[in-house]
Amino acid sequence: MIYAANFKMNHTRVSTTNYILELEELISSKSVLSEDDRVFLFPPATALVPSSKNITVGAQNGYPAQKGAFTGEIGLSQLEEFEIDTILIGHSERRELLGESQDVVAKKFEFFKESGFEIIYCIGEPLEIREKGKEAVFEYLWSQFEGIDIEYERLIVAYEPIWAIGTGKSATAEDIDEVHKELKNKISAPILYGGSVNSKNIASLKALDSVDGVLVGSASLEVESFFGLMEA
Ligand code: PGA
Repeated sequence: MIYAANFKMNHTRVSTTNYILELEELISSKSVLSEDDRVFLFPPATALVPSSKNITVGAQNGYPAQKGAFTGEIGLSQLEEFEIDTILIGHSERRELLGESQDVVAKKFEFFKESGFEIIYCIGEPLEIREKGKEAVFEYLWSQFEGIDIEYERLIVAYEPIWAIGTGKSATAEDIDEVHKELKNKISAPILYGGSVNSKNIASLKALDSVDGVLVGSASLEVESFFGLMEA
């Protein structure tokens, strides 16, 4: 299983550093992870630190350039200082709130792919598409792969239905299984589920063969709660 924590705009440099120390301690003392399990942490840009023994630290965002006149952005030079080579691309909050079009998302993907990054690429449909039925959902999801190299060897896909993010209302195991199976017909990369993953639904997610891991927001903010998902 892959366990990825997306802190979004939460935590500071100090609290992230403490979190990583505590999580490392829990992981090594309780040895709940198997060899194939992986743990990712995406802190805010101000809290980036190099990865530790069991935890791969990645960036929530990056501008597709080495450096330059891009006010407010961080690029490859800044990420390299912290030895970051993992990035989230296409998160719905960036698509919806920050106005990232598929074109922008695809440019970022291409740039960070060329830079050899491991990419967690996020897709997910809004409620109005879900309500139109399955055909609309799949059409929408496939459109989010426009300009994306689905054969990239360092690709992980995260399916995060927008209506399930931060709402406490996870998609049902059946809905998730159906989407993941459809994605797996064309994509060989691991596929994570994200959207209100928590201690109550983690067991049913882990039970699905089509779920290779989870991308967790709210339930990752406390170290005990995130670690609890690994223990479950
Ligand atoms: P959530 O966020 O777990 O708080 O729903 C998930 C995400 O947006 O990655």
